[in-house]
Amino acid sequence: MRVFITNQIPDNGIRMMLEAGHEVTVFPPDQTPIQRDVFIQHCKKHDALLVAGFAKIDEDFFQQCPNIKVVSLFSVGYDSVDLASATKYGIPVGNTPDVLSKATAETAFLLMLAVSRKAFFNYQKILKGHWKQFEPVADLGCDLNGKTIGIFGLGKIGYEMARKCKAAFDMKVIYHNRSHNQKAEAELDARYVSLDELLAQSDVISMHANLTLETKGVFNKESFAKMKPTAIFVNTGRGNMHNEEDLKEALDKGIIWGAGLDVTNPEPMDKQNPLLHYPNVCVLPHIGSATLETRNAMAELAAKNVIAGLKGERLPTIVNKQLYE
Ligand code: DGY
Repeated sequence: MRVFITNQIPDNGIRMMLEAGHEVTVFPPDQTPIQRDVFIQHCKKHDALLVAGFAKIDEDFFQQCPNIKVVSLFSVGYDSVDLASATKYGIPVGNTPDVLSKATAETAFLLMLAVSRKAFFNYQKILKGHWKQFEPVADLGCDLNGKTIGIFGLGKIGYEMARKCKAAFDMKVIYHNRSHNQKAEAELDARYVSLDELLAQSDVISMHANLTLETKGVFNKESFAKMKPTAIFVNTGRGNMHNEEDLKEALDKGIIWGAGLDVTNPEPMDKQNPLLHYPNVCVLPHIGSATLETRNAMAELAAKNVIAGLKGERLPTIVNKQLYE
């Protein structure tokens, strides 16, 4: 059968699908991001879709592409898919959980640390020839030791971030989530708190929730106002969970101290965005899971989901589980 991939993925995944007897079309990376009409034209001619990057999979997609039998996402996030429509049309949707948890948490940890020491800004100082001498009081950062990490959305990635913060800096762990995370409470002494408590008590807030109607825009003017003036905001989840104008204002007015973003709102971030020059802000271009090992593991899992879907078998990592209930 025919598989369409919206961007280049690691070879191991492509090989698996070829070895399973499928024909694979990879949309040329130099033409990405793929335009909607081109995307639909390709999907009409294929049996399976593997999405690497953003593509809106909505009711209109399922109506226009009746040959598609499985949608496999090269991501853990599935906010690009209208799951109710997928389920209505009987299409399984797979994602790549677990295999990217550690790499993504490492990116959150990297941003926390980089912001706390104004690392990107200080590096720019060297490039600009501003490193003249040792400066005892210029551009000081803040300690992380013994501080409180607040995890917004404590699933697998949030757990890994909390674990690193506790191990490296003996940070206290508090979290806000849809439900209690027993493992984190038992192993990390993590304490469940309300959103207001999370905002008020955290020295660092790290975002790891799924983007949903409830979490969209949840970090806005009102929530930043409830945070400590010394707090660092880290987002490696989805940019749409924060309002970037409100974040900028919170930084400008000293309502919070710093921010580390691997995801921005909108994405990609405009290269003229003033936040890129703030000493206490570090921005990365959505590289959360971007290690060789992790991307290979994601390719393998995404390929397994395609292969299973085309055989009519349960996907190894299915998002719309209700299909099988
Ligand atoms: C994910 O896996 O969801 C990453 O953010 C890539 O979209």
